[in-house]
This record gives sequence, C-alpha cells and structure tokens, in this order.
Amino acid sequence: MKHLSLLVFTLAVFGQEPAIHGPKILGTRPGNPFLYRIPATGARPITFSARHLPAGLTLDPATGIIAGATPRAGTYNVTLRARNGQGKSSRKLRIVAAGAIALTPPMGWSTWYMAYENITDQLVREQAAAMVSSGLADHGYTYINLDDGWNIKPGDPKRGGPARNPDGSLRTNPDFPDMKALVDSIHSHGLKAGIYISPGPLTCAKYEGSLNHESQDLNTFVAWGFDFLKYDWCSYGRVFPDKTLENYKRPYILMGGLLKQAPRDIVFNTCQYGMGNVWEWGREVGGNYWRTTGDISLGSTKTADFWSSVDKIGFGQQGKEKFAGPGGWNDPDNILIGHVLVGQTLGPTPLSLDERKTYFSLWSMLAAPLVLGSDLTKLDPETLAILTNDEVIDINQDSLGIQAAPIRKDGPLEVWSRKLDDGAEAIALFNRGSQPARVTYEFPGSRRLRDLWHHKDLGKFKRSYAAEVPAHGVVLLKSR
Ligand code: GLA
Repeated sequence: MKHLSLLVFTLAVFGQEPAIHGPKILGTRPGNPFLYRIPATGARPITFSARHLPAGLTLDPATGIIAGATPRAGTYNVTLRARNGQGKSSRKLRIVAAGAIALTPPMGWSTWYMAYENITDQLVREQAAAMVSSGLADHGYTYINLDDGWNIKPGDPKRGGPARNPDGSLRTNPDFPDMKALVDSIHSHGLKAGIYISPGPLTCAKYEGSLNHESQDLNTFVAWGFDFLKYDWCSYGRVFPDKTLENYKRPYILMGGLLKQAPRDIVFNTCQYGMGNVWEWGREVGGNYWRTTGDISLGSTKTADFWSSVDKIGFGQQGKEKFAGPGGWNDPDNILIGHVLVGQTLGPTPLSLDERKTYFSLWSMLAAPLVLGSDLTKLDPETLAILTNDEVIDINQDSLGIQAAPIRKDGPLEVWSRKLDDGAEAIALFNRGSQPARVTYEFPGSRRLRDLWHHKDLGKFKRSYAAEVPAHGVVLLKSR
C-alpha cells in the first residue's frame, strides 16, 4: 500500500503519464487558417491522435499541433488523445466554427512588463522558445504578444526614420528585420503571435500609430500572420479630444469591423483603460477583451505599492461580471509574477508566495485573460508551479465563461463564487487583510469540497466550511 501511494505520488509529481489540458471549447471562423497546439503534459515522446477531426485539419502525431483551414460553419466534437510509454489520456474539444473567437479567456505572454519598449526579434524568439521549454505551452499558454516598440519611433536616433514605405505601409524598426519570419517561427512552435499599435498618430511610447491607415495596417498584420491585436488608445485623444462615448467608441468600431472581415482569426484587445465604461460596449464593437483600468504597473519598487495595485485592480473588477462571457472578457492587465521590470530593473516580483497565488486565483476566478508579463526564461519553480496549476487554469478556462462575484464580505475577508460547466462551483476564500484570518464559506445542505492549491479532496461538509487564510492569501475550492 505504502509503495502504491509512493508510486501514485511519483507519477503525479513527475507527470509521467500524459494528461491533456486546455479549453474544452474553441471558436474559429470558417475558412480562416487554423492552428492549435494540444496542451499536454507527460513524458515525451507523446503520440497524439484525434477522433472526428473535421476535414481540412491535420494533426501532427509527434508535436500535437493541429493546423489547416477552419472547416465550414458547424460544431465539431473532437476527442483529443495522447499516449506515451506510461499511459494514455483523452479530452474533448468542441470546435465551434461560426463567428465568435476567444470563447475562453486567451492565455499567453506579452513583452511589455519584462522589457517595456526595448524589445527585439531575438528577445521574442527566446521567449517563444521558453514558452515551450518551460512547459507553459503544455498547460494552454498560446499567445506571444509584441507590445509597444516594434516599429518606427519618429525622431528617435536609433529607431527613427520614415515610419512608412512609399506605399504607406508600416515599417518595422531595425530590431525587427523580418516580421513575417518572426511570426512564422512563433507559429512553428504551434503558438500564436500578437501585435500592438494605437489608433492615434502615435503609440503610448511614441511609435507610429495607425491613424488614417487602419485598413492598410491591418492588411500588413494579416500578411505577417498575426493572430492578436492590442489597439491602445494613447494619442487618439489628441485627435478627438471630446470625452464623448462616440469618440471613445469610434476607433474600435472601425478596427473591430475590419477585423471581423479579416482572413485570419485575430483576437481584438481594446486597450483604453476603461474610459466610457468600455465593459458595457467592448463586445458590441468587436472587442474580445478590454482593459478595464489603467496599468497594473510596477513603476514603483515598493512591495506594498505593487500589492495594493494588484488588490485594487483585481478586486475592483466586481460589478463588471455581467459583461464578461464567451468571446468578450474584462481585462485587469497582465500577470506579473516571476521576473518582471521592477522600476526599470528586471527582477523577481516583490510579492509573497501567498500574494502570487491570490493574484493567479483571482484572475482565474475573474475569467480574465491569463497573459503573463514575466521573463519566461527565468521562472523560479514556485512561480512556475503557480502558473501551471491545471486545476486553477481549468476554472479560468471553464466553458460557461462566468466571471466570479463575491457571495460574502466581512471586512477584508471575501468569499467569491462562480458556476462551472460541470455543475460544480469554484469558491475562493480571500483574505485581503494583513493578518491571517479564518474565512467561512456558508452553503445550504452539504457539499463535497476539493482544495485546488493542495490538490486534495477535503471531504463532505454540512452548511459551512471554515479555513485559516494567510494574510493576502487565498483558499481555492471546488464545491459540488
Ligand atoms: C499603455 C498600456 C500598456 C502598454 C503601454 C505601451 O500604457 O496601457 O499596457 O501597452 O501603453 O506603451
């Protein structure tokens, strides 16, 4: 018996048997290119296969990358399978070829918080490779997003010069010698690529913007092969200074309309810091997620300041839950745990282990995009374990796409809940205070509870469950 539990423990810890992760539903547009890397853990080599894969898509059995053209409109119930020397595993994936994309919150990485504008082709390639070698891609992280700093910065000694070619098309700066080749290399990992620009004359870091070139720039992004666009307000207010809803919406209606017609599935991230209650109309203008606030930022090097920013922005999502759902999500900004820019220096996030778990739990409960801001080549084991907790990611990626809301508040102690596709509920016991405290979850009748950070069934409870929660900490439960 002892040996058996040791064996089970060993297998669980080292993940030898294959296990398939990731969303259970995937939206894509008929006719557009399709790319999906089956997220799976377990000893490699793994042999992948799929049942009922629609015609037009092919699966590489060695890499688990599905590619091809999205089939005609319909719903395709595919079963993904993975097998290795230790065992096998399967998972259902419903491919919905209709109009909607981002049916679950996008997962990926962005350059911004590890490098600000100082990005290069090489940096992006290294991070894409690390997305795979760290194992993050095996848990569903997909997008490699370039933020500000890839194109021409008018007047800059190194990155200046003509911002556009004679035909008006965008030019990259010398640190991005061949954008198409970079995107191809990201795609070769089975990952997707994201780009960034402003609808105004300049981006926030003062690079060339898209004003009056919207359609042409989108064509360029499509030709390069991008799968994601962050469209950042920045200088747009200089052109349309009146603080009216019409002005707030205008650039997003324009680009959102163009994106719907684009011959690629391009996730649209409308970034304008919450002006005009963007959550109320982000979806209608074609946004797949919208930043609800200003930057979460690590401009300050003070630990307390950074935690209070995470706490304020994260818990501040309350009230916006009715606007989130499949295809359109509230975005409280990136996940900054691991090595990120603290002030201007790349270093470990000044957050305790409990704060990091709370951050990731809260973003998962909120059905927020899980876009990492840290250096993927420098993930410490504790941070990696947080970012790859599949039980927590499953909450984030749940097919119902219901953003959690509080069901009980008692000073700094909050209990949040969200309903899940399998009939269970995810429950988070948060302690926002600076002292450990007992948090109680109350419910009618009896419930079976599982602790998602300890990967442990807790048993059956009647009417309530109380747990000691560390300062700034969380206990995350599945309740059924
Ligand atoms: C703004 C955005 C950030 C980032 C920078 C780039 O501040 O909110 O997320 O994109 O611009 O300059």
